[in-house]
Amino acid sequence: MQIRSADPNRDAAACVEIYTPFVTDSVVSFDEVPPSVEEFAAKIAKLSDTHEFLVAETGNKVSGYAYAGPYRERVAYRWATEVSVYVHPDHRHEGVGAGLYRELLKRLRDKGFRIAIAGITQPNDASMALHMSLGFTQVGIFQRIGFKLGAWQDVAFLQLELAPDAGPPTT
Ligand SMILES: CC(C)(COP(=O)(O)OP(=O)(O)OC[C@H]1O[C@@H](n2cnc3c(N)ncnc32)[C@H](O)[C@@H]1OP(=O)(O)O)[C@@H](O)C(=O)NCCC(=O)NCCS
Repeated sequence: MQIRSADPNRDAAACVEIYTPFVTDSVVSFDEVPPSVEEFAAKIAKLSDTHEFLVAETGNKVSGYAYAGPYRERVAYRWATEVSVYVHPDHRHEGVGAGLYRELLKRLRDKGFRIAIAGITQPNDASMALHMSLGFTQVGIFQRIGFKLGAWQDVAFLQLELAPDAGPPTT
């Protein structure tokens, strides 16, 4: 397995293929309409500029992706970043998710981000365990914060301090 920065033109279609079932058939994503390849390519380009967008390749095929983006827009939040990861069902339990996140978190740390945040629709044992294994701690659960597939959905929020001993930001 190899991990590299995503290329909007080369990787968008494979990422959409991985993402679409989570939009149409699950509450993992709160999107309701799958993005087009063009929309996803624009998302890769935008987030690569400001944060990070990574893909994992297994045997020359994209087996998963992970990215970071803004948490909230107001300016004092700019050292916080929200992260997400999706692994193709054929490549679960191969270390793809952990590998993507380890590289993503390293790059975010190197860029000066201080807090990584993840929102996880409940229940999702695999995602909770992956985040906890990397040091994330749960800060709370928003009750009934979204409505999808005919039911109200709870979302747990987790955070990881990327540089716990660093003082005030220098950037
Ligand atoms: C969550 C997800 C990204 C994990 O990816 P993965 O590549 O299968 O995970 P890895 O093989 O890297 O496993 C890393 C750790 O995650 C945890 N984990 C992964 N799958 C698990 C499962 N089904 N049950 C419990 N823990 C699990 C384990 O702690 C594992 O460490 P270990 O192998 O040492 O026990 C993957 O299941 C996925 O894409 N799920 C659907 C999308 C999703 O929920 N994304 C997260 C949105 S917040």
